[in-house]
Amino acid sequence: MSTKDEIAVSYDVGNDFFRLWLDERMNYTCAVFDETDDLEEAQLAKLATLYEYGKVTADSRVLDIGCGWGANLEYLAVDRGVRDVHGITLSEAQHAEILARRIPGVTVGCVSYLDYAPPTTFDAIMSICMIEHVCTPQEARKGEAVERYRDYFQRAWKWSSPGAHFALQCILRVRTPRDRADIREIGWASRHQLPGGLAPRMEDIVQAAEPYWEILHVRTRRLDYRRTCEHWRARLRQHEAVIRDRWGDRLFEDYDRYMTACVRGFEQRYLSLAQWSLRRLDNID
Ligand SMILES: C[S@@+](CC[C@H](N)C(=O)[O-])C[C@H]1O[C@@H](n2cnc3c(N)ncnc32)[C@H](O)[C@@H]1O
Repeated sequence: MSTKDEIAVSYDVGNDFFRLWLDERMNYTCAVFDETDDLEEAQLAKLATLYEYGKVTADSRVLDIGCGWGANLEYLAVDRGVRDVHGITLSEAQHAEILARRIPGVTVGCVSYLDYAPPTTFDAIMSICMIEHVCTPQEARKGEAVERYRDYFQRAWKWSSPGAHFALQCILRVRTPRDRADIREIGWASRHQLPGGLAPRMEDIVQAAEPYWEILHVRTRRLDYRRTCEHWRARLRQHEAVIRDRWGDRLFEDYDRYMTACVRGFEQRYLSLAQWSLRRLDNID
């Protein structure tokens, strides 16, 4: 698992920095561009897709594992009228942002999923690009990836009620880059921007969900993530002067390089993105 210090490297740079170039609610994950090329609309379309994958209703108790700055929590409570919404994040800055939003019906904890002990169970679990922090590259090299992901799925199973659904979104590691410059840039991005993190392989998720969750549906969206990163890079560049002035040249250059590596990674199919609808297996052996 990424440690709290590693999470701070990725997400505690400054809420106002991310506010400048993410969408209004600050989704920091792939959007869905089926019907639009507008980032705001595409992020809402992503949240609507996952709402359906999680079979959420206004009466559901919902848990969002790795809730970021609260985009999905706000969408559920405000746009969908869900009355009981809970999120967990390991980032202090994200936790502070969600508390500052004071969204009715939303509670949030700054806690690792490994230490989380909810008082009751949930009707729907959602987790949008958090599983990338569950297994470190070192653990994967030791052959522990499936074990780490299965532990995460087992925890989500224990926290959920019979009949629950799980809407999961994650980046996928598809193939090793061939090109030397790509190997260097993707290696740099993983070490510097996402320390302790690793995108899972699809087959590891399929194996690890067993025996807790049945896969009802999985949809890949590689080119949607390329487009999301292009939007982020364009918005970052629009604010270049402000970012250099307020946070320094290094931060602008690192994030520009990071977005460029991500665009290339999705374009070349080193990486992909998957959205999953999972159903709880209530009678497991
Ligand atoms: C890429 S961000 C995605 C945020 C959000 N879901 C979104 O769509 O914008 C990954 C999230 O996972 C959270 N996270 C990482 N490791 C965690 C852990 N051990 N326990 C709880 N949350 C964790 C981070 O704090 C961050 O909020």
